[in-house]
Amino acid sequence: MKINRNFQHHLPNDSRSAVVVELQATLQDLIMMSLQAKQLHWAVTGPDFRSTHELMDEIAHEAQAFADEVAERTAALGAVPDGRLAGLYAASPLPQVRVGFVPSPEVISITANRLKSLSGRLRNRISRVAEVDPVSEDLLLNLLYKLEKRSWMVQARQLDKPRPKLGEAMMTEVHA
Ligand SMILES: [Fe+2]
Repeated sequence: MKINRNFQHHLPNDSRSAVVVELQATLQDLIMMSLQAKQLHWAVTGPDFRSTHELMDEIAHEAQAFADEVAERTAALGAVPDGRLAGLYAASPLPQVRVGFVPSPEVISITANRLKSLSGRLRNRISRVAEVDPVSEDLLLNLLYKLEKRSWMVQARQLDKPRPKLGEAMMTEVHA
């Protein structure tokens, strides 16, 4: 990813180059998260339709707002963020959401997995960004804080299942 080498900034060009690569990858993750959440917002079915439909809309809007913050930090470092759809699926490790209706428990399971994947990659990026730019590190830390909070809220719905009756296996699978 190219930076404007004549851009006025306290950080050296090499540092800015290193940071914007991490910001660009985060931007693509967030755009993907937003698009997939919106797809699930439309595709969800089942008795939990309303709450899951609304939850997915919240996540889509939240991811879009985060994407804007990350893109504008990239611009503030003298690079142009690339938020175009071309190449987005090639760049992101998140699998596509299938076409068709998706039952609410599956929507929650897919979303929990996406949030875990996104948070893990973000945590790795933060450790690299921390070495060169504490301001971008702070932005990404704040983002990770909010993603992990959202991850908790989504997983809490998975855990809200009837307890097994006596005699049934006490081991329950938790999708993480
Ligand atoms: Fe809607």
